[in-house]
Amino acid sequence: MKSANIDAQSVWQMDRDHVIHPYTDFSTFAEEGSQVITSAEGAYVVDAEGNRFLDGIAGLWCVNIGHGRKEMAEAIAEQVMAMEYYNPFGHTTNEPASILANKLSQMAPGSLNHVFYSCGGSTANDTAIRLVHYYNNLRGKPEKKKIISRNDAYHGSTYVAANLTGIQGTKQSFDRICDDLIHHVSAANMYRRPVGAEDLSEEDYCEFLANEFENRILQLGPDTVAAFIAEPIMGAGGVLVAPQGYHQRIHAICKKYDMLFIADEVVTAFGRIGEWFVSESLYGVQPDIIVIAKGLTSGYQPLGATLLSDEFYDVISKPQCEGGVLSLGYTYTAHPVACAAALKNLEIMERENIPGRIRELGPYFMEQIQCLNEFDIVGDTRGSHFMIGIELVQDKTTKESFPASVGIAERVFKRCLERGLIVRPVGSVIILSPPLTLEKEHIDTIVNTLLESIDEVSDELREEGVIALAG
Ligand SMILES: Cc1ncc(COP(=O)(O)O)c(C=O)c1O
Repeated sequence: MKSANIDAQSVWQMDRDHVIHPYTDFSTFAEEGSQVITSAEGAYVVDAEGNRFLDGIAGLWCVNIGHGRKEMAEAIAEQVMAMEYYNPFGHTTNEPASILANKLSQMAPGSLNHVFYSCGGSTANDTAIRLVHYYNNLRGKPEKKKIISRNDAYHGSTYVAANLTGIQGTKQSFDRICDDLIHHVSAANMYRRPVGAEDLSEEDYCEFLANEFENRILQLGPDTVAAFIAEPIMGAGGVLVAPQGYHQRIHAICKKYDMLFIADEVVTAFGRIGEWFVSESLYGVQPDIIVIAKGLTSGYQPLGATLLSDEFYDVISKPQCEGGVLSLGYTYTAHPVACAAALKNLEIMERENIPGRIRELGPYFMEQIQCLNEFDIVGDTRGSHFMIGIELVQDKTTKESFPASVGIAERVFKRCLERGLIVRPVGSVIILSPPLTLEKEHIDTIVNTLLESIDEVSDELREEGVIALAG
């Protein structure tokens, strides 16, 4: 929407004065305000000043089919005109929600045949945890409530999802929900392993993590631990790919102690790694619950969903008492317009075989990105397919990080922006998660832009004496 009467400067000003942004850095916000993005097409977005940028992060890991698809606009408009919204509580439904649930049941692995809709990834994770507790209450195991998550995990921003999140930087000055409900074990971080595990083989590191996990369950008391939650590949925590066999080992331990395995596939599902879902197809585990959002609608509408197995549904689908109902739901659960957008999005992805093209292009992207390792300040390039992290370090040998005051990833982000590329700086990692419609030339542009930008930042750091002069 473009308002004829409001100029770009006023939009900037109103935003600065009235909008509270997620993850705002208030040390710079008042002065810098926000970049106003006004239009988007394919792999590009355009700001209010007319600058065009290659979107290296697909909005926020979500615009999988690319920006500005007219078909999506039409499907959304059609649903608004047919029936924009009606109450989903109780026994009322709508066509798109019903058809989409059936489709997701067919696409998801195993017996994940039951869908609870929410508004995004955080609410879908929140729903998962509430339902896990409800499930154990109905099973007559009211003590079995604790959840094990991982350091550096990102699971969202509702109270529960923020507590599942294990990224330390997100915790400052916020409260914990309840000290004994959510516990964290180590991230599976091949680049930065804990003391004692630095020199282990991949196989032994996997065993190390599995032992830590099992010991934590024993320490907490198996009768009190309900579930484990994990992203198949950690996203916002720095794009961390677990050692081979990790998910299977952890899954087996969950089963040993009658725990549920929740896969947070908010980022990994719907093509980013070349599969519709990755838990079973790439990692050989059948989760009891899979959480999805983002690529489900490619960001054209907000929608999340918690997919539940037949076994789980069998327990929760019985009335818990006379007159009792499943007291869980949002006004916008099963929103018809969001579900219609998801259906059209999945149709486009199937027609264009988007997972297939990512299976082809992903290895090329991963290979091209390796050239960044030539820089002294690039410690690690990692990820899978269209989910990539580049970790920047002050000392490549010791893996010492830059002090926060250097703002290393932010510097690279700014240099890329000047060159027309948007990347995502998180801590000392540059994240790439572009639309899944990129061509090889776009990948080459991303890599070349990063080469030039990191080179310029390295020169700057040498001049400032932050890193040693070459030679
Ligand atoms: C793995 C994962 N889970 C959950 C979420 C939260 O999703 P939302 O922001 O839609 O609430 C995110 C968001 O980035 C995510 O990456």
